[in-house]
Amino acid sequence: MTVLVTGGAGYIGSHTVRQLRNLGRDVVVFDNLDMGFAGAVMDAPLVIGDVADEALVGRICADHGVTSAIHFAAHKNVGESMAQPSKYWHNNVDGTVHLVDALLRAGVRDLVFSSSCSVYGTPENVPVTESAPVQPESVYAETKAMMERILRWYGTTSGLRTVSLRYFNAAGASLDNVIGEDWSQSANLIPVVMKAALGLRPPVQVFGNDYPTADGTCVRDYIHVEDLADAHVRSIDYLAAGGATVGLNVGTGLGSSVLDVIRTTERIGECTVPIEFVPRREGDPITVFADPTVINETLGWKPVHGLDTIIATAWKWHSTHPDGIRT
Ligand code: WQD
Repeated sequence: MTVLVTGGAGYIGSHTVRQLRNLGRDVVVFDNLDMGFAGAVMDAPLVIGDVADEALVGRICADHGVTSAIHFAAHKNVGESMAQPSKYWHNNVDGTVHLVDALLRAGVRDLVFSSSCSVYGTPENVPVTESAPVQPESVYAETKAMMERILRWYGTTSGLRTVSLRYFNAAGASLDNVIGEDWSQSANLIPVVMKAALGLRPPVQVFGNDYPTADGTCVRDYIHVEDLADAHVRSIDYLAAGGATVGLNVGTGLGSSVLDVIRTTERIGECTVPIEFVPRREGDPITVFADPTVINETLGWKPVHGLDTIIATAWKWHSTHPDGIRT
């Protein structure tokens, strides 16, 4: 009953690996360490390689008695995906097809897939439900939408059952401050705010403060990485109990603005976050937050942590680990 976790040496993957192991589950981590760090998996079994290596995936499944998989391994930089689309088609789409072919040959039929709320593009309505139109606005988001559809076809043709988790904005660090995000791998708001508050980078560029929101800045649904990891564990158990293929939004249902994040950081970190207002970033939706009704009904999942805990754990992690897991 081993869970294969691809990309398990990465940010969300390593938090999920820890939760599985804390629950006494057997895991094997498969990561090419392109963006992940071996230190993040602690003493979990780690095989270094590429998801497209079907023979290696087959050997891992046989050697470790793999019965299910969680697939995190993917490139995730929206801007890079528009500059280097082929890198994303090959790694995110082609790589996943090779992985699934190897899993099916090894008799593995349960797969949890790391998808993204970015498949909705700019949602027409908030909160965002699973019935919202899928209208990706970047190559990265398109790879996630394509893979969800390909995985459904694998369900039709090969009996694969998948839970595609559409993440909103993952953030924060482990509650015990043992693992966290590596800001060298992220241009997302919260690690950027932390680094600026610690004086380790230029001021935060706030991409627009002229939006039709309460304070003029964009609104997002920030979800604690431990809550996100819990959704993956519950998805594995849902599939093990015979659950049908499903796509689920993973968000808190609450929206926070860019300035909410900055002011909360100043309050909790007792610091000043240097900022400068700059023009809007192209492609930024004004307001995005989830309707978590379906994931609650399907998995019994509810978020435990709010923005204060997200900021407090991120602040503690980054202020004590300036070099990330390498510290
Ligand atoms: C958040 C807000 C920016 C940086 C992310 C992932 C995407 C998906 C959803 C998983 C926006 C503003 C940011 C900065 C800023 N998750 N911002 N200055 O764009 O919501 O998307 O979550 O797949 O893949 O990328 O996240 O952190 O880039 O931006 O003002 O230096 O912060 O405009 O309003 P985003 P983000």
